[in-house]
Amino acid sequence: MAKKTLTTNQGVPVADNQNSLTAGQRGPVLLQDVHLIEKLAHFDRERIPERVVHAKGAGAHGYFQVSKSLAPYTKAKFLQDPKKKTPVFVRFSTVVGARGSADSARDPRGFAVKFYTEEGNYDLVGNNLPVFFIRDAIKFPDMVHAFKPAPDTNIPVSSSANSRFWDFISLTPESIHMITWLFSDRGTIKSYRKMEGFGVNTYIWVNDKGKGRYVKYHWKPAAGIETIDRHESTRLAGEDPDVATRDLYDWIASGKTVEFELKVQLMEFEDEFRLDFDPLDATKTWPEDKYPLMPVGKIVLDKNPENYFAEVEQAAFCPASIIPGIEPSADKLLQGRLFSYADTQRHRLGPNYLQIPINRPNAAVNNNTRDGSMQNGEGFSGTVNYEPNTLGGGMPEQSGGPVFGGRPIVGEEVRRKIVLTNDFQQAGERYRSLSKKDQDHLVDNIIDPLSHAKKEIQKRMVANLTKADVALGKRVAKGLKI
Ligand code: HEM
Repeated sequence: MAKKTLTTNQGVPVADNQNSLTAGQRGPVLLQDVHLIEKLAHFDRERIPERVVHAKGAGAHGYFQVSKSLAPYTKAKFLQDPKKKTPVFVRFSTVVGARGSADSARDPRGFAVKFYTEEGNYDLVGNNLPVFFIRDAIKFPDMVHAFKPAPDTNIPVSSSANSRFWDFISLTPESIHMITWLFSDRGTIKSYRKMEGFGVNTYIWVNDKGKGRYVKYHWKPAAGIETIDRHESTRLAGEDPDVATRDLYDWIASGKTVEFELKVQLMEFEDEFRLDFDPLDATKTWPEDKYPLMPVGKIVLDKNPENYFAEVEQAAFCPASIIPGIEPSADKLLQGRLFSYADTQRHRLGPNYLQIPINRPNAAVNNNTRDGSMQNGEGFSGTVNYEPNTLGGGMPEQSGGPVFGGRPIVGEEVRRKIVLTNDFQQAGERYRSLSKKDQDHLVDNIIDPLSHAKKEIQKRMVANLTKADVALGKRVAKGLKI
């Protein structure tokens, strides 16, 4: 191995890294030991704020490739050519636990993909379950508060084995469909390689003729789906809390790849008001017999991060990172997400977080955004930092062309629930679609943590479960001796 001299961060050779500079052999220590001071001061600042949700994660690099041109549906350039490989970075995560929590705990899992496309970065920030607890972003901070440790005790009990979780859930009927997913064994896993991924929210794809359609994303794991039961989840949380993180790293380190197939469901705008639920409601799935899954392409993950902090901890995904041909829908949960991610990243990583190598687009960045902390100045030169200008030859100039699909938006200013809530039907259908064993696990997985909640909360939950499916409600009621 080539010889390397130890240096300070200024590049100055360090003569002795074992002994502080002292007055006499036994001290005290001198303020002029700049190496000691720099070393301690940098160490003191090694932690940045953990993500407010999805704090614990594991990442990998790879590429994405379409299986056929998607030109009829979207003009996004990286989705046109089956020969093209677009680099990606993926971060899988748990949601509720803090940075040191167990991988196997009952929780949705994050499935965030950053595509470094020729038109700029596109982020598909999804989860491993197809629906969500709520349909309006205004409820998200309350929801996360109810799931995280209590503000008075900070006791990190399993997020669902307490009254606070069930209090919020029982008063939020739209969450019941998500509960039938989260409390099935889909909510406990030990390998990120063997779970599905979903965009959950509805987006819009627009082709080069300006024709738009609603789209929902699905990732299918080549390794198949693997879940564990709650006993295995509890055992692993104690004995092997980093099981999924290590599984991903070791698998790739051994030279093997991780693959997921991307599929989409497409819906014509005309269908928007023809269903018995609102298709832009994130607590609903679209029936696959009416909206079949269309194969799109695959991601292949083949490279581990080399520096966990630089790549995984500093990775910043955002549903608002979209490119021409992909647009947000009016989905009220998604609309809040469009704001929240970059906002938290400016706080967590600083205003120039997009200059950090893992977040920097491969596409050229030309604009007049300047300054701010940690500005590296790369690519910015000259006297012109405004637009329009003549002193810089009018550059950089706007590209022109359509901005968004131009769909008309009408309505009064209101704060109102959507009309077609239909909160219980899909939850009941999901329960009835499960095998006997999976139904038993769902019931058991609900009863165990719900038994820690207050009786009145248990009764509200039973009422909601009964509205979804009478047998499901009855079984949970029996288990809780109600
Ligand atoms: C209104 C609802 C939501 C809000 C306000 C919200 C907000 C946030 C915030 C603030 C973060 C931390 C980001 C960071 O520090 O870099 C985050 C992370 C994340 N969220 Fe959401 N979220 C919402 C719903 C969802 C939904 C529905 C999904 C799944 C489809 C989702 C998937 C994720 C993922 C995967 C991450 C982790 C990204 C990473 O690996 O860095 N979130 N969310």
